[in-house]
Amino acid sequence: MEPVTFVLFGATGDLAKRKIYPALYNLYIEQKLPPYFHVIGLGRREWTDDIFKSNVEQSIADFSRRKVKDPVLLKSFLNMFQYQTLDIGRQEDYERLLERIEKRENGLSLTPNRMFYLSVGPEFFAPIAANIKGSGLGSAAGWKRLLIEKPFGHDLASARELNQQLSEAFEEHEIFRIDHYLGKPTVQKLVDLHQQHPELQAMWSEREIANVQITANEIVGVEDRAGYYDHSGAVRDMFQNHMLQLLMMVAILPKKVTPEEVPLMKRALMKSLVPLDLQQVGERVIRGQYTAGSIQGKPVQGYTSEPNIAAESLNDTFIAAKLLMEDDYWSGVPFYIRTGKRLKEKSTRIVVEFKPHAADAGSGKPAPRLLVIEMSPQEGISLQFSPDQARHHEQLSPVQLDVHASGQELPEAYENLLHDALLGKPTFFAHWEEVELAWQWVEPVLQAFERNDVPLRTYAAGSYGPAESDALVANDGYHWWFDA
Ligand code: BG6
Repeated sequence: MEPVTFVLFGATGDLAKRKIYPALYNLYIEQKLPPYFHVIGLGRREWTDDIFKSNVEQSIADFSRRKVKDPVLLKSFLNMFQYQTLDIGRQEDYERLLERIEKRENGLSLTPNRMFYLSVGPEFFAPIAANIKGSGLGSAAGWKRLLIEKPFGHDLASARELNQQLSEAFEEHEIFRIDHYLGKPTVQKLVDLHQQHPELQAMWSEREIANVQITANEIVGVEDRAGYYDHSGAVRDMFQNHMLQLLMMVAILPKKVTPEEVPLMKRALMKSLVPLDLQQVGERVIRGQYTAGSIQGKPVQGYTSEPNIAAESLNDTFIAAKLLMEDDYWSGVPFYIRTGKRLKEKSTRIVVEFKPHAADAGSGKPAPRLLVIEMSPQEGISLQFSPDQARHHEQLSPVQLDVHASGQELPEAYENLLHDALLGKPTFFAHWEEVELAWQWVEPVLQAFERNDVPLRTYAAGSYGPAESDALVANDGYHWWFDA
């Protein structure tokens, strides 16, 4: 790999501390960083290099999956870090940054590259990109790349506007939009699952899929993010991005594509999603909000009693939806998606339910077969054959297709994603067309919620969401798998 200067905006922030420094450290230990790798942290605070380094060190101690064993190695890691105070709106600060980067690059005989990671609020994406361009920072001798993380806009129009602004400074192939769900090890496994499991090929080719269920249940509530969350809701925070990305990744499975073809296929799948008109939103989408309840024995307050949330807030903390595709493979197969806060347990999984085989019936009713792709609480992929009544893990007999050896430490999503971005591998990033198509699909839902056309259903904290979410699936003759 060629030399890279990693320019980190928001170096004093929470994401950097919890995710980025630990990910860089683990990549360093695994020798996955380029030999000439240099981090310039930027922030408003007047930090020295030493203060910066000790903060990075602390973040590794607190959040890295690998603990520091070798102080010499840690020291050489920290030596890659420098800090500069920067006011996002001041062009001079960018020029000073450029001088500093060029000074270092001039000493290298290899072509230097620059990666800009914007770990800052989305309102700063466009001004930073413009200043990168305006100051000359964007004219790297080698490649330049931009890493950003959601929210990519607040709706279709603002997403388009943001994309337009970014595209004035970076080409699409230079923009790496992080969706951390695409960095999860099990999600990444989906791309070559077929090659490794011919038995699955056979199952897919029968075209006998009853439905697909995508669940991301969370225990946590709004936490200290009221300002952001109350204006986003589950639909913008999880559904438009993570959930639709999971939908695309699972819908790819029978398509047998190479990693390089993934972005193109995802786009095609998004295009084939049947759009909803405003009337249909009420039939296909459930909007929910948690009320007081208890989770794992602890009492929990309702959403509107949370700090900084207005008592009359109608924000959605839960969303469930039924989606259909017009696609040569998926037509007629319902995709059910649900995600919410303050639910009974943390579970993130995709269940592909195959139609029962009469041959598997034995003495009872034919048994549905399930492909279970689980990200949380454990990562793994299994085929499960169930007696008709079984709804819970313990009643099923799983055949593990991809278990991560117990005790094996899996890389964090950010490690996978930073590594891929350094290698310039776009497979597991969100591309503009996908993002735009996702906003397009979601737009009538946003409007219907805004106009209060869709009733806000309540659910007690500690439940599996509003009863209407169960009914959405039950109306088609199915049930959500694995609800206790
Ligand atoms: C984030 C959302 O993108 O994903 C959070 O903003 C949510 O609200 C989180 O809690 C869930 O991520 P994970 O990896 O814990 O499922």
